[in-house]
Amino acid sequence: MKKITFSALLQLCLLMSFAQIKVQGLLTENFTNPIALGVQAPRFSWQLVAEKRNTMQTAYEINVTTDKGSAWKSGKISSGQSVQLNYAGSPLQSDQKYTWKVRVWDNNGKASPWSEAASFKMGLLNTADWKAKWIEAGYVEDSINRPAILFRNQFALAKKIKSATLYITAHGMYEVQLNGKRVGDAYLAPGWTSYNKRLQYQAYDVTNMLSNGNNVIGATVGNGWYRGFLAWDDNKNIYGKKLGLLAQVNVVYTDGTREAIVTDDKWKSTNSAIKSVEIYHGETFDAREEKNGWAATGYNDGGWKGVNLLTTTFDNLISTENEPVRKHETFKAIKVITTPSGEKVLDFGQNLVGWVIVKAKGNAGDKIVIKHAEILDKAGNFYTENLRAAKATATYILKGGAEETFEPHFTFYGFRYIKLENYPGTINPDNFTAVTLYSDMKPTGTFSSSNALVNQLQHNIQWGQRGNFLDVPTDCPQRDERLGWTGDAQAFSRTASFNFGVNNFFDKWMKDVAADQLADGRIPHVIPNVLGPDNGGSAGWADVATIIPWNMYLAYGDKKILETQYPSMKAWVKFMTDKSKNDLWNIGFHFGDWLFYRPFDDNDGRSAVTDKYLIAQCFYANSVQLLINTSKVLNKADDEATYTALLKRVKDAFLKEYVTPSGRLVSGTQTAYVLALNFDMLPENLRKQAAERLAENVKSYDTHLTTGFLGTPYLCHVLTRFGYSDIAYSLLLQQDYPSWLYPVKMGATTIWERWDGQKPDSTFQTPGMNSFNHYAYGAIGDWMYRQMVGLDTYEDGPGYKHIRVKPHVGGGFTNASASLQTYYGTFSSGWKTEDNKILMDVEIPANTTATIYVPATAATAVTENGKAVSTIADIKVSGTEEGYVLLQVGSGKYHFVITK
Ligand code: BGC
Repeated sequence: MKKITFSALLQLCLLMSFAQIKVQGLLTENFTNPIALGVQAPRFSWQLVAEKRNTMQTAYEINVTTDKGSAWKSGKISSGQSVQLNYAGSPLQSDQKYTWKVRVWDNNGKASPWSEAASFKMGLLNTADWKAKWIEAGYVEDSINRPAILFRNQFALAKKIKSATLYITAHGMYEVQLNGKRVGDAYLAPGWTSYNKRLQYQAYDVTNMLSNGNNVIGATVGNGWYRGFLAWDDNKNIYGKKLGLLAQVNVVYTDGTREAIVTDDKWKSTNSAIKSVEIYHGETFDAREEKNGWAATGYNDGGWKGVNLLTTTFDNLISTENEPVRKHETFKAIKVITTPSGEKVLDFGQNLVGWVIVKAKGNAGDKIVIKHAEILDKAGNFYTENLRAAKATATYILKGGAEETFEPHFTFYGFRYIKLENYPGTINPDNFTAVTLYSDMKPTGTFSSSNALVNQLQHNIQWGQRGNFLDVPTDCPQRDERLGWTGDAQAFSRTASFNFGVNNFFDKWMKDVAADQLADGRIPHVIPNVLGPDNGGSAGWADVATIIPWNMYLAYGDKKILETQYPSMKAWVKFMTDKSKNDLWNIGFHFGDWLFYRPFDDNDGRSAVTDKYLIAQCFYANSVQLLINTSKVLNKADDEATYTALLKRVKDAFLKEYVTPSGRLVSGTQTAYVLALNFDMLPENLRKQAAERLAENVKSYDTHLTTGFLGTPYLCHVLTRFGYSDIAYSLLLQQDYPSWLYPVKMGATTIWERWDGQKPDSTFQTPGMNSFNHYAYGAIGDWMYRQMVGLDTYEDGPGYKHIRVKPHVGGGFTNASASLQTYYGTFSSGWKTEDNKILMDVEIPANTTATIYVPATAATAVTENGKAVSTIADIKVSGTEEGYVLLQVGSGKYHFVITK
């Protein structure tokens, strides 16, 4: 009897808790419990969890406290906003920790309990908060090999420690230890920004790494992006000639007093065992020169030199704005190969970015040389020609005796294969572990379908992103390039926002775009700009200034990126306006539709060359359009009017210059039609026939695409928009060159730079431009998520506040599904064909609404959970549209069955 009462009680409790809503996943500035914010009004986000469908937030209340008391009590505010809500309490103090919680009320009259507490800590907000001084090596460096430098300092802490935070950055890349232990799990810190204007410092909670009495801090600093080789022609020392360190440990004692341990003239410096290290060329490490215990107490640093102090202002210091580079997946070799030319090669089975951790046992002075490659050649030999001047070599010199473990520090490699030279003893694959390194973006998207090759394509797109989101969005990770190419980044940005959380990543990088923008408004080709003071302004590359902020606004509802970037967006558009004559922008250097289809023996003119100025005018119009959209969001009515008038003139000029009266474009290429249609360059009455021409063009190439970097991202979108989803699917499923699946069929595990990086006969494209890990063409991912499965957001409720689900069932697929972790929670959708039915499962997160396009001709053909949709109270049938029934729903899970 007792038992029954208890379980009944339990059930009642469970029922009650299900009926309740709760709040979870608290984020501050899009981070979980960040510890060095640099903004005065951080933004809060949280998620509602509700079992009941159709749950919306109607009000919230936030409390922010410190150990001294309340910092902000919002009181109960009637509002549905649960994402990126600005802190509005008393001014936040440097180096101070804050705790916050939130509770909400919903449209069913329910209140949630208070959430669990989240926290955030402010960074050093004022330059005066820095008590440390920049230090440099106190000896003359070897100017040829430029070994990494060790800096060390022993200090005593007199009292019991309550908390301690290390603030640190470098001229170069650093790794730091306290009492012999590595601090944090960030790599390649302080990351890459336009250092002269914006240098990030990192903060680490080191409370548990310090103790009463003597402590040692030790940092290793290597060349990195600061003074290493970048771009071409021995281009080095871009930001400075000398490595430097700036570090400050802010200690709070239990008695409330404070102390700062800082880089100053008491520090010592010496050469490290890292004899040379370059991003492109790799690392040489001589274990014989390792200084055992150098970052702990009890080490005798008598032979070390002092340091030089630098008088530098701290004006360029900023807190870290994105997720650090961290280690992620590890891979064991799947094969040990002896190539036809006798090389010893390990195959890790995946083209990845990071390095290999190597174990070896040998004699002092044994020198292991490890080379990295993405691919084997036709004969099966190790192929590195496409790395151009990048040596991509790890050299380890053994100290001898016991087994030794090596891994590099201030470099990274893009590879699937390694070649071993002089490895002592037999090669045991267990002694080699490849580990990936990339910005620690949250994985947010999944996609899968009934087609294994398309699933591999999705895999390749995601791996292209992993490998090339290494603090900045790089074009490729392996050759002597690895730069923040703007065109590649804009082309891929929307796809990127599905696969991983890239809000912070692009927020930070776009500030560098603005920082490096030239006085005339041009955006340099690569950001950070390492190509000199006078480059940039190419159509489709420089448009990164408008395209990425707008894409981030759509993907995350991030209004702040629009506010922050607005001057930069305007300046870029002004540049194009300034350079135009009669509203036609037809001068200057442009990359054009980079790497478009170019057959080798083009006798009958099948290459798909698109007039560069036609492209430029389309992107000009698009940037103006995005500025109009942005000025609307930011309530800038004057600007909106100005740019609306400008857009009309830009389009008129386009029509006059590039379109015949009957609607033919001067370039008859896919890219020309795609851009003209995607950016609405043609009047309504000319669009249908232009789309027909595009469809005809695709067919004339035997259903192959011919687009390059600029046309590719929009090709399938335009086909779908104008009713040619069948052709879009045929392009997606095309297996021979040029196509997305051709590289997949050739065994690719990432996206290739060129449609034919490796030819069907296994020979290669020209080594001067042939990366096998270049994400740009992965931009098809956006179509797969948004059109194939149908995961999308409306612009009036960006960031998936107002969701659109519009799948395109077709292409012979029997299923396709995708999910996305939005700021509101999980949004997923999937369809399956079964006999004469289509099944569709959709999940809509709480505090959002959705319009679901169900592929059916009438509502009577649709059931949800076995009942006719028209009879379900929380589903509103709002009409039909071109083969779809439109349903208006709130949050919850939906299972539809559509009878064909
Ligand atoms: C890069 C590209 C880049 C291009 C400019 C290349 O070297 O790898 O991806 O966008 O230059 O056209």
